[in-house]
Amino acid sequence: MSHQTSYAAFVKRLFTSSLGMKMIMALTGIGLWGFMIIHVLGNLQVLLPTGDAINDYAVMLKSNKLILWGARLVLLKMVILHAYTGLKLASQNKKAKGVGYRRYQHKRSSFYSRTMRISGSVVLLFIIFHILHFTGGVVEPDTFAGNITDAEGRHDVYVMVRSAFSNIGWVLLYAICNALLVAHLIHGTQSLWQSLGFRHSTWTPILKNIGWVLVAFIFIGNVLVIPFGVFFSAQ
Ligand code: HEM
Repeated sequence: MSHQTSYAAFVKRLFTSSLGMKMIMALTGIGLWGFMIIHVLGNLQVLLPTGDAINDYAVMLKSNKLILWGARLVLLKMVILHAYTGLKLASQNKKAKGVGYRRYQHKRSSFYSRTMRISGSVVLLFIIFHILHFTGGVVEPDTFAGNITDAEGRHDVYVMVRSAFSNIGWVLLYAICNALLVAHLIHGTQSLWQSLGFRHSTWTPILKNIGWVLVAFIFIGNVLVIPFGVFFSAQ
């Protein structure tokens, strides 16, 4: 077999076997986790008394168009692969329901895949809305950072986010969608290692505990501190 055909066969197996799809889902999940942690750390700057830091940070992120669009494409690819393999595995799981005699386990796993499907779908819709809101400026063009600048002439990301979260409607929408993201991440961090086939008596519990700490960080940042912190400090 030539290198090319064996590579094609490998990719085909990766996308058609449940083991391969679980690995894709777990690895893209880790990648998206990485984005999320950096995103929350960057966004926490919106709680500072001035917009200097976050506006500077946004300029830095967008300064190299090649890196910016490269990162966006990688992110998009990860989201598509994660959602595709997740939905495919969930539908396979549904088909397998009731087959075999380990009924309790089937009940548990179908509850798991149903909640992951629902929370994952809401998060996907949220991401589309969120990009239209803050990156596209379609929802609130008057306060969109691309349309307003600070004293230094930078896009005013600070004013954009703070004005969005002075509206309790947006605060609640963001808090609810981010709480669903947290629910999705809780399940993800606990099942990730099994999907990767990693089982170790010492390390698996440690990795799962690290997952809890990171989930708590996302919850505190995205659900509590950023939306409500801005809302109450704007009153
Ligand atoms: C309280 C929660 C959040 C806040 C305050 C927030 C804030 C922001 C801001 C200010 C931008 C746009 C920056 C700009 O274009 O100048 C942005 C972009 C983005 N956010 Fe969020 N975000 C939050 C939650 C999330 C979540 C939960 C996700 C994904 C699950 C997410 C994914 C993205 C993506 C993909 C972009 C587009 C990045 C790009 O321009 O390429 N965000 N966010």
